[in-house]
Amino acid sequence: MIAIDGPAGAGKSTLARALAARLGFRYLDTGAMYRCVALAARRAGIDPEAPQGPARLGELARSAAIELGERILLDGEDVTAAIRAPEVSELASVVAAKQPVREALVARQRQLLDSGDWVAEGRDIGQAVAPQAELKIFLTASAQVRARRRAEELQSDPKQVLAEQALRDARDEGRAASPLEPSADAVIIDGSERSVDQLVAEVAQLARARMG
Ligand code: DC
Repeated sequence: MIAIDGPAGAGKSTLARALAARLGFRYLDTGAMYRCVALAARRAGIDPEAPQGPARLGELARSAAIELGERILLDGEDVTAAIRAPEVSELASVVAAKQPVREALVARQRQLLDSGDWVAEGRDIGQAVAPQAELKIFLTASAQVRARRRAEELQSDPKQVLAEQALRDARDEGRAASPLEPSADAVIIDGSERSVDQLVAEVAQLARARMG
């Protein structure tokens, strides 16, 4: 079990996917699960800030049929592109701060990770989802590098991406429920100046050293 945590845009998904392929492990994108709950909430017209909002979101997080793989399916519908829309990214960060949502999704993630070899990616994998992981990586990059990458991906204005990213970072780091922070036993890697190939090689080597 390899846990990869860190802020948005640090390159976690690229690293986690490539690492899983290299090691022959399965890959779990936990952010996609929060995004699916956000999309389902939007469609159901649930206001996260309403008095019953968090409880209704928790129910949704327990019951939504989420299938992860090459394509992401929500209740049978392909939502691979829809969950990457900026408004869903924004709502995912709001939804992820609600304790009932975290409880439901962490339980589902633990169930998935129960058997087999995994690279799991998110914000709280090393801390909360899989504290038993043999290797924990906390991948960071400077705010500018992260915003530039996101802006290229989304084909949008880097300045605007940087501003939105700062808001989301503050929310992810400042929330009461599982705030984003490295666990004490995580290896902290700054990916700002490294290529994907360098990162994958470095982490694969750490994994081999840990797992024998
Ligand atoms: O990694 P991502 O951008 O797809 O994540 C979407 C949102 O979900 C983001 O605001 C952080 C949150 N998230 C979380 O709180 N815990 C996780 N394990 C994964 C994602």
